[in-house]
Amino acid sequence: MAGSLESKVALVTGGGSGMGRATALIFAREGARVVVADVNAEGGEDTVSMINDAGGEAIFAYADVSRAADVEAMVNRAVETYGRLDCAHNNAGIEGPVGLRTHEYPDDAWGQLMSVNLKGVWLCLRYEIPQMLKQGGGAIVNTSSAAGLVGMRGASAYAATKHGVAGLTKTAALEYARPGIGVDAVCPGFIHTPMFARINVDNPRGEEQASAMEPVGRLGTPEEVAEVVVWLCSDAASFVTGNVMPVDAGFVIG
Ligand SMILES: NC(=O)c1ccc[n+]([C@@H]2O[C@H](COP(=O)([O-])OP(=O)(O)OC[C@H]3O[C@@H](n4cnc5c(N)ncnc54)[C@H](O)[C@@H]3O)[C@@H](O)[C@H]2O)c1
Repeated sequence: MAGSLESKVALVTGGGSGMGRATALIFAREGARVVVADVNAEGGEDTVSMINDAGGEAIFAYADVSRAADVEAMVNRAVETYGRLDCAHNNAGIEGPVGLRTHEYPDDAWGQLMSVNLKGVWLCLRYEIPQMLKQGGGAIVNTSSAAGLVGMRGASAYAATKHGVAGLTKTAALEYARPGIGVDAVCPGFIHTPMFARINVDNPRGEEQASAMEPVGRLGTPEEVAEVVVWLCSDAASFVTGNVMPVDAGFVIG
């Protein structure tokens, strides 16, 4: 049976770990050829190997999403290798310091979060959209967060960047709806990834506490987010754009 993305080309930033890796694998499962982009070459190459081992097609592209030249080269590499770009998951992100109140937040960390989490998504849009316009359409999914919908104590810069991604997503959705580019965002709740482990490295009760905050009583898996991303990129979601969609089992409504 043909996959939902047969003959499509998909790009994932932060594809070397966590939710980005899960999306890359599911893009490939659905028949897309995949460009896995990351600053972590080892993680990115491992994702490519996993895709190849499962019979899919993928390449690794080194890209720091906060650097325009890297992002431009990443999109060029996708087009040079596979001839087009149909789907993009702009997912790369960092957590920064956690547990500091707004007035305590360090200047350099503030700048770094803005560069990677917010400017990084904008740079991806800046280079992906012209290619999709040339082709007559495409689908883009940005990774925001539950912290892009509600406030989060001790994570002022992170929450500010993720709210920023939500605004950028809605604006781009309006601007490119007519030429046929869907732009949506996913807002994951607490998801079992290396980022979650880093945030809770000094808190042995972190998983228990986060699970208690999730109405379903457990963390989400990277695949539970990736399935939504891939659906948003499929033709089944052709009348969907501009959603900033919680994928959080009800966390933000509580
Ligand atoms: N884990 C959660 O609970 C959670 C919840 C909501 C949102 N998110 C968001 O989901 C996204 C993925 O997070 P994850 O939990 O899978 O984290 P992760 O740390 O497992 O993976 C993030 C990947 O992004 C890469 N990356 C970091 N900076 C980069 C840069 N400048 N350029 C390119 N790649 C870069 C890392 O090398 C890593 O491979 C992030 O945007 C994160 O903020 C995570």
